[in-house]
Amino acid sequence: MLVAPSILSADFGKLAEDVKAICEGGCDLVHVDVMDGHFVPNLTIGPVVVEAVAKVATKPLDIHLMVENNSFFVDLFAPLKPGFISFHIEEEKHPHRLIQKIRALGIRPAITLNPHTPPEAIEFLLADVDMVLLMSVNPGFGGQKFISNVVERAQRLKALIEKRNPKCLIEVDGGVNDENVKELEAAGVNVVVAGSFVYKHPEGVAAAISALK
Ligand code: DX5
Ligand code: ZN
Repeated sequence: MLVAPSILSADFGKLAEDVKAICEGGCDLVHVDVMDGHFVPNLTIGPVVVEAVAKVATKPLDIHLMVENNSFFVDLFAPLKPGFISFHIEEEKHPHRLIQKIRALGIRPAITLNPHTPPEAIEFLLADVDMVLLMSVNPGFGGQKFISNVVERAQRLKALIEKRNPKCLIEVDGGVNDENVKELEAAGVNVVVAGSFVYKHPEGVAAAISALK
């Protein structure tokens, strides 16, 4: 299981230190939640702060856009050379065009699905993306309760991926811990995002990451 800690749960007063800790603690990706106060009822960080994160991160950034104007935000973050950029399908009129744009910038494109969006909605985009992110909470905040229907959604997505693009990864984000990660693994999930589980773990971030793995 690949692990992408969400820095949303880090201490922003010592962000560089908290980013270094997850990279040294064995994470695979650094998950960055970008919220615009419109698509979701919360506002987080922009390129100035993410640039500071990119400077100290030794693992690829996994930028999760929760915004209304995806193309504008792709342009803002592309110069930081993230590993992945994911955008919400619910907020994009021309997903195929946006995927081509992200790829042309040398970034791996990913699509995110809210808890109500069926995996079948993106069947004909799967051939063009490297990852699909299934939300297991309503996007906007860390520390929410895991919505367990993600297990069935992951199973259905896995079947579509086998047919259309077997190399495409499945990522799950929201309320993930060392208990529910087992059923996610069994459902074919490749990457878990975890914010509060990692940053609030009593034995520290490295212990949390290895528990998820
Ligand atoms: C929610 C974000 C998540 C969040 C996960 O909108 O996309 O990445 O930070 O935090 P936990 O693991 O605490 O649910
Ligand atoms: Zn996220």
